[in-house]
Amino acid sequence: MNIEQHLAKDVQVINDEIEALCQRKDPDFAPVLDAMAYSLLAPRAKRIRPVLTLAFCRLFGGDLAAALPCAVALEMVHTYSLIHDDLPCMDNDELRRGRPTCHVAYGEATALLSGDALLTRAFEVLGENTAMSDRTVRDAVQVLARAAGAFGMIGGQVIDLAGEKEILPLLRLLKLHENKTGALIVASALLGCLSAGLTLSDERTKAAKRYAEGIGLAFQIVDDVIDATATVETAGKSVGSDQKQHKTTFLSYYTAQEALAYAHRVSEEAKMSIASFEGNEFLLELADYLIKRKF
Ligand code: IPE
Ligand code: IPE
Ligand code: MG
Ligand code: MG
Ligand code: MG
Repeated sequence: MNIEQHLAKDVQVINDEIEALCQRKDPDFAPVLDAMAYSLLAPRAKRIRPVLTLAFCRLFGGDLAAALPCAVALEMVHTYSLIHDDLPCMDNDELRRGRPTCHVAYGEATALLSGDALLTRAFEVLGENTAMSDRTVRDAVQVLARAAGAFGMIGGQVIDLAGEKEILPLLRLLKLHENKTGALIVASALLGCLSAGLTLSDERTKAAKRYAEGIGLAFQIVDDVIDATATVETAGKSVGSDQKQHKTTFLSYYTAQEALAYAHRVSEEAKMSIASFEGNEFLLELADYLIKRKF
């Protein structure tokens, strides 16, 4: 199986699970439930975070039944972050995952609420994971909450906004990327390890974390390059947004070519963290795939 086939198979499993969770309807809550499903089930979503969770669960011999709720919870938190990221008070973008952004389709208030609802639903899904021990569910909740919060993704968004007012020093730009994007990617790997029954202090979990930190940074550098160089058709989302908002990105310091070379170096180092594990082929190829991606 090549990497595209492997990804397509995992994405199918993830999408089936997300669709099943979107089935519960109540006409009184319709706008928010519809908006949640609209953003979650948008066809262009790559599902990289849940794919990572499944991959680390497999790598360490776990049962996918434990990993799947974690994978879906991650995608819910990520989707909420995109809905809020696109709002007029944030990046003010109009296209996401090949569709008009949530607030364009449903209005700002419903978009705000659907983001809130996705974030809380994610923790409900984690709490309902009966294929994990209670102790492991507790660890999973803590890992995801921390990654999503003020010392994780939200903190990254705070620096991102500060980077519209001034050119951030390179070290602060790295902290921005580590938090706004890296934190959830690291959480994805950690939840995969927890699903496989590893503890957070296990050396294998620490190796997974180092891998995810590296591919997380590389992922956001490539995202910066895509924003500056891709067409809207290829990206499936608004492009030129960073320049429009005067954001500090890797392109404030490097040419696109230099930025991609930087991402490549970081990604190669990331791959070394998991080099000793048998069955690591997919994760090694995934690292390469993510820096070559065009959207
Ligand atoms: C976009 O994430 C936001 C970033 C953190 C760069 P993705 O590139 O994973 O977007 P989707 O989930 O595939 O739409
Ligand atoms: C968004 O980063 C990261 C989060 C949603 C936390 P970007 O603003 O660069 O993502 P895109 O480019 O809009 O997808
Ligand atoms: Mg943003
Ligand atoms: Mg944005
Ligand atoms: Mg971007």
